Amino acid sequence: MLLHIPGVLSAEELAHGRQLLLNADWADGRITAGTQSAQVKRNLQLPQHLDAARELQAMVEAALKRNSLFFSAALPKKVFPPLFNCYQGGMDFGNHVDNAVRSDPFSGDWVRTDVSCTLFFTHPEEYDGGELIVEDTYGLHSVKLPAGDMVLYPSTSLHRVEPVTRGARIASFFWTQSMIRDDAKRGLLFDMDMAISRLRGAQGDTEELVTLTATYHNLLRMWAEL
Ligand code: NI
Repeated sequence: MLLHIPGVLSAEELAHGRQLLLNADWADGRITAGTQSAQVKRNLQLPQHLDAARELQAMVEAALKRNSLFFSAALPKKVFPPLFNCYQGGMDFGNHVDNAVRSDPFSGDWVRTDVSCTLFFTHPEEYDGGELIVEDTYGLHSVKLPAGDMVLYPSTSLHRVEPVTRGARIASFFWTQSMIRDDAKRGLLFDMDMAISRLRGAQGDTEELVTLTATYHNLLRMWAEL
């Protein structure tokens, strides 16, 4: 499942975040890459311990906490502290799959990467290229979203970022360990949750809807790892 989540950041958050990112001390993006991905990764990244990075992490985490679509799609158990990257002057990131487990630099906890997200801080018209290309069993998906919007996809996917040939592409990216490890099960729960919400909006709480809602929760209870 590849999902577009619009309006994750408010206009104020986006403006303040862009200000912090434009004045930030960027470093070589290979600081967090594994051996294979380091060979194909050409971008800039914000060192995680900088004050600006900490403030931006808190902003993104707060935005995620109030976003019901993110909750429904990711069913998050742990969110890795959001990272920030910048592509400019032809930078790109070739095909790779993200590392399966990562150590949270602040808590030391291991996070299994089940769900990947990219949250855009620059507008599509500010740069050329820079599409996120995600491969799944249905082929290639090309993603380039408005600033403040986010894409969510399974971390098991092969993906790349095309070269940025004009301007700069600035984004946040991070991984979530889900209560539901399996992509197919997580996708079923998401579809069911969305259908239940639409039915409730259209018809109110019918007896059938109570049964469907109970079934959703009982599946979640059966599958969730806490
Ligand atoms: Ni990646």
